[in-house]
Amino acid sequence: MKNFLQDIKTKIFADGADLKSIIEMNNNPLISGFTTNPTLMRKAGVNNYKNFALDVLSLINDKPVSFEVISDDFDEMERQALEISSWGKNVIVKIPITNTKKEISSSLVKRLCDAGVKINVTAVFTIEQMMKVLPNMSSAEAGYISIFAGRIADAGIDPLPIMAEAVEILSDHPKIELIWASPREVYNIIQADQVKCHIITATDDILKKLNLLGKDLSEFSLDTVKMFFNDAAAAGFNIFTDTEKYVVK
Ligand code: G3P
Repeated sequence: MKNFLQDIKTKIFADGADLKSIIEMNNNPLISGFTTNPTLMRKAGVNNYKNFALDVLSLINDKPVSFEVISDDFDEMERQALEISSWGKNVIVKIPITNTKKEISSSLVKRLCDAGVKINVTAVFTIEQMMKVLPNMSSAEAGYISIFAGRIADAGIDPLPIMAEAVEILSDHPKIELIWASPREVYNIIQADQVKCHIITATDDILKKLNLLGKDLSEFSLDTVKMFFNDAAAAGFNIFTDTEKYVVK
């Protein structure tokens, strides 16, 4: 079986909020960072933001971990960002590209970068948005821009040219890395690598399928046929009895 992963240069960050799986992923050499967001935290049943974050950071202190601000007001976001960033030297603060009023976060991005806070500008969907914040990240020692490739694809638009263009633009900004966020399938890792995207995030469901990379397709087909056969048997389906009750009269 061809080992796809050994040739992949794109770093993989685990995206989630389940502590058990974060612990597991911290032991996985393929994972070099972590991201989460308020939606994933809510889904995972987190009820105390700070305690959760400190728990994560007590386990992971040598890989970047992104936590997001939760205000809609830029001054309050700044206050939160400074607090979140004080929780650990490996903390990256996620700043949404706009607030809910569609006001761009570029001034806040500049203030935080100037203050030495490492940020991850999140929920970016277009190159135009990226170009509005990028000049304000020039003082950053390290920074990230997360383009939501999967959501772009959900909108029926191919994210690949957008990601390729973003990588090209960032070649003039060596301290800023592009994150392929919201992936939808394992193949996105290959695509991210093809366009030389620096990082891709992956949720648990994608991480669980990494072992399929390079799998022989005829073997995969056979496994699929076996799955149908085994599930039919386990369900006790029978084509030839009790059919009458399904006949539409
Ligand atoms: O890190 C961003 C990611 O969690 C969003 O994913 O699946 O909600 O588009 P999704």
